[in-house]
Amino acid sequence: MLQQIINQILKDVEDFKAENKEQVEEFRLKFLSKKGELNKVFDEFRTVPNEQKKELGQKINALKQTVQAKFETLQNSLAESDDDTFANVDLTLPSKPIQLGSHHPLSIVRNEIIDIFSRIGFTVEEGPEIEDDWHVFSALNFPPEHPARDMQDTFFIEKNPDILLRTHTSSVQSRVMEQTQPPIRSIFPGRVFRNEAISARAHCIFHQVEGLYVDTNVSFADLKQTLLYFAKEMFGNDTQIRLRPSYFPFTEPSAEMDISCSICGGKGCPVCKGTGWLEILGCGMVDPNVLKNCNIDADKYTGFAFGMGVERIAMLKYQVKDIRLFFKNDTRFLKQFEAAK
Ligand code: DAH
Repeated sequence: MLQQIINQILKDVEDFKAENKEQVEEFRLKFLSKKGELNKVFDEFRTVPNEQKKELGQKINALKQTVQAKFETLQNSLAESDDDTFANVDLTLPSKPIQLGSHHPLSIVRNEIIDIFSRIGFTVEEGPEIEDDWHVFSALNFPPEHPARDMQDTFFIEKNPDILLRTHTSSVQSRVMEQTQPPIRSIFPGRVFRNEAISARAHCIFHQVEGLYVDTNVSFADLKQTLLYFAKEMFGNDTQIRLRPSYFPFTEPSAEMDISCSICGGKGCPVCKGTGWLEILGCGMVDPNVLKNCNIDADKYTGFAFGMGVERIAMLKYQVKDIRLFFKNDTRFLKQFEAAK
């Protein structure tokens, strides 16, 4: 009799299907609640003769476990289908774009200059931004009364002895020549400081790349050919150069180099002010006095040097009309260089 009831319950439990919470609750009420089937079996068990108790007792225990296991299975299956973590997510959608930074235009140009000169054997050296008078001026043959030594042009940190922010990367020339004997073939990129009013064309902080080549038999022809190579690599193969005589205390002879206007190709336009030429750097043969100041034998060695402004080159290359844009960190400006190398 009880055995039949047990069998029936086992069958009913096995067949039971629940698709929602209500049906799971129905299962609980039907089998596990106070008035449920299991309790009825327990009640019935009391009337069972003693000799059958052991066998039936075991069966009832097994039944109880089966019912409970089924109940848990039903609950779990519901929990899984109920779990809507991914239900409303379209896993095939493309992901949100990641905002990548880009190189600053000044870094792009500086790296390109480094790249161009490293292809012809120039190494890269750096020097300090806070300098002494010797390396910025005296070693470079600046006379004591030169206007660059004036407070109006130079940011001084201390006077007597003078500590200052370097006004040009030529200071690295003196440091490198003091420390190394020729052959020297290096470029020095870096930041420089001048006490100047900020305008569209001038800033008190800007960047330069200096070049220095000292060896036996270095001539002006080597300088010219090196700079022609640079101009063509930087501004395109059709670029022409022109050297105009100039003066710098640390070079003799000195020159300023123009390139044919990269915008109008030399015909004349507002950028080159109708001349067809753009000034891009200063250069010359290292003055023997400078070599001597740095303990290099001026009878044995000669050298050339050049210095260019990174902002100036970037402005020409990308037609940027206001130097202040390089320092504003306005992402609308910077984003335009994402595609540049
Ligand atoms: N130091 C100069 C300047 O800041 C640039 C310069 C001119 C550097 C001639 C040189 C050079 O090495 O030979 O204006």
